[in-house]
Amino acid sequence: MTTAAPETGAVQVVGEVLSVKRSGRYHHLTLVAPGVPERFRPGTFVAVTVGGAMAETTLRRALPVHRVRATGAYGGTVECVFEATDAGTRWLAAAAPGTPVDVVGPLGRPFALPKEPVTCVLVGHGCASAPLFSLAERLRERDCPVHMLLGAETEAGLFGALEARRATRGVTVATADGSVGLRGGVVDALPDLLTRTGADVVYAAGPADVLHGVALAAETHGAWSQTAVDVPHGCGTGLCLTCVLPVVGEDGGTRMVRACTEGPVFRGDRVRWRDLGGVPADARGAS
Ligand code: FES
Repeated sequence: MTTAAPETGAVQVVGEVLSVKRSGRYHHLTLVAPGVPERFRPGTFVAVTVGGAMAETTLRRALPVHRVRATGAYGGTVECVFEATDAGTRWLAAAAPGTPVDVVGPLGRPFALPKEPVTCVLVGHGCASAPLFSLAERLRERDCPVHMLLGAETEAGLFGALEARRATRGVTVATADGSVGLRGGVVDALPDLLTRTGADVVYAAGPADVLHGVALAAETHGAWSQTAVDVPHGCGTGLCLTCVLPVVGEDGGTRMVRACTEGPVFRGDRVRWRDLGGVPADARGAS
């Protein structure tokens, strides 16, 4: 059964797990979810039920989309990469092929794409890098030269370094312990990459401290940044208010907005990174 929700561009569909494969310390989930791939744009996510018989009492899990396939032997499929860190994601990681899963998506605001073929740097940390690969495809279709900077604490935490070599013009890898690539974080490596490539646009996905550093580096280099805030493992649909964060609007005023509906992608220079987790005194509509 598919229920259309034209006002958001999302659909709700009873799909199923096609496969769950290990990818280093992460899990690569492929869902059959007809209708979602046709509406997908890079940066959006899906909210899926977890818990089988407990699904009615358990919040959905919001998973960024790695890539989609609109057609195939099973119909449209959606691929997500995640780390099993709680009971819900552990249930998903262990789900057998054929397990029914209710899927709502695609949800959220996607990455904005440049109108001109400008040079782009894509920065990802850990498995949060997953959505950057479908973004890279869209950018290459627009003749944008694409460079990728991938990082993690250790080599085991990297995601997609091999795929990135096939998909982009250049790949830089950084690990905090120096086990592979440059020693340090992606934020340390970014200024040199921006200088070498002369990038006009920086796209980033990862934890808030990484996104903050990326936004600052982009601003310093006169580049425009788009940051995908880590999608909260709440409802993903605007109901639970667990994902609220302060964002500066066009008028210069700060508003508390929901990352799952107004985001997850925001302009990096618009998010008040230092105020995440709190409510700034000057935020409007937050009393
Ligand atoms: S995750 Fe529930 S409102 Fe955003």
